[in-house]
Amino acid sequence: MTARDLAELTEAGERRIGWARRSMPVLTAIAARFAAERPLDGLRVAACLHVTAETAVLMGALRAGGAEIALAASNPLSTQDDVAAALGVYGIAVHARAGVDMETYYRHIHQALDISPDIVLDDGCDLVNILHTERPDLSVAGGCEETTTGIIRLRQMAAEGALKFPVVAVNDTRTKRMFDNRYGTGQSTLDGIMRATNALLAGRTVVVAGFGFCGRGVAERAKGLGARVIVTEIDPVKALDAALQGYEVLPMGQAARVGDVFVTVTGNRDVIRGEHLAVMKDGVILANAGHFDVEIDVRALEGLAESVNFGVRPNVDEYVLADGRRLLLLAEGRLVNLTAAEGHPAAVMDMSFSAQALAVAWLATESVRLPPGVYDVPADIDAEVARLKLAATGIAIDELTVEQEDYLHSWRAGS
Ligand code: ADE
Repeated sequence: MTARDLAELTEAGERRIGWARRSMPVLTAIAARFAAERPLDGLRVAACLHVTAETAVLMGALRAGGAEIALAASNPLSTQDDVAAALGVYGIAVHARAGVDMETYYRHIHQALDISPDIVLDDGCDLVNILHTERPDLSVAGGCEETTTGIIRLRQMAAEGALKFPVVAVNDTRTKRMFDNRYGTGQSTLDGIMRATNALLAGRTVVVAGFGFCGRGVAERAKGLGARVIVTEIDPVKALDAALQGYEVLPMGQAARVGDVFVTVTGNRDVIRGEHLAVMKDGVILANAGHFDVEIDVRALEGLAESVNFGVRPNVDEYVLADGRRLLLLAEGRLVNLTAAEGHPAAVMDMSFSAQALAVAWLATESVRLPPGVYDVPADIDAEVARLKLAATGIAIDELTVEQEDYLHSWRAGS
């Protein structure tokens, strides 16, 4: 790349970051406070996050707080190269490029760890996994985890006594899960499917596998676009919830025969398998919005296909079966919202990443007294993020009266 190309890329990245910042008033306010108080002075932070404009705003806030930062991508396809270029200008060491192979992806995480971090930020637990398995030389004070899949892995590590430091489950805060997982995944997943295919969703049958916060968001947005939505689940309570919300609930074996668009959002592997792919209709669209590319069995798809037309459109590969049916796989089965679209809108990342920034500042003082384990974000951080977001949105709410406060705290008061 010539110096001129790099300058243009950097300028494009700065514009994109500036655009995101406009919708991130809470994180911007926290960055200003960090700049004044410098709560992260002298700390080294290694982050493994999707390298997007919203992540750049978070990195700016941590930098303003005094942290030295190295950033690697948490997915080989989600990096916005212009943003990565611009972050370098802000003095952040970025190890990420869109479309790298898996070897390079893991090398980048190692390079971020070479900073010898005090605190780590992870999205999916790949960095923490490498720390525990391949970099035992490094001693880390604490970490934050951004996503459901990462929390599942961390809880398993904690249960087995393998986790070596405290990790804050940022994913589990209400201000993250209720907005980012639901509205963020919902909107950006449909955005990714539409950008990739330009398919009309009205009147089509969309099968959503998984009815957690993310799946619920996808189902709601698909319904809003006029699709008939079928939900598949393994959890009886979530299945019941979906049914009572008016969705049809079916096992994947039956849904596979009738769906036009399939979206996996379960966090588990092999949700769409060979036996399902074998009975699908001609022209179906297969998309994944779960963290890892394990939910659609791409190997089985390759095995069934007589030929593959890669890149019939950007982010669309067409698998042609022996009888002529074509199955369209989006984004190689990786996160469709971050590969074919731009990830969650900045307005929701504002809350998730504000919780991240405040959790890092909290760890900076508290990690020394925390034994290894998975910790909830302190409730006052959650409430502060929500209060700041309400204020930025111009929404006022009521306060408890003294009598109400007493009533809530007294079991003696009758009805
Ligand atoms: N995860 C989902 N959307 C994201 C975004 N816009 N930036 C960073 N991480 C994300």
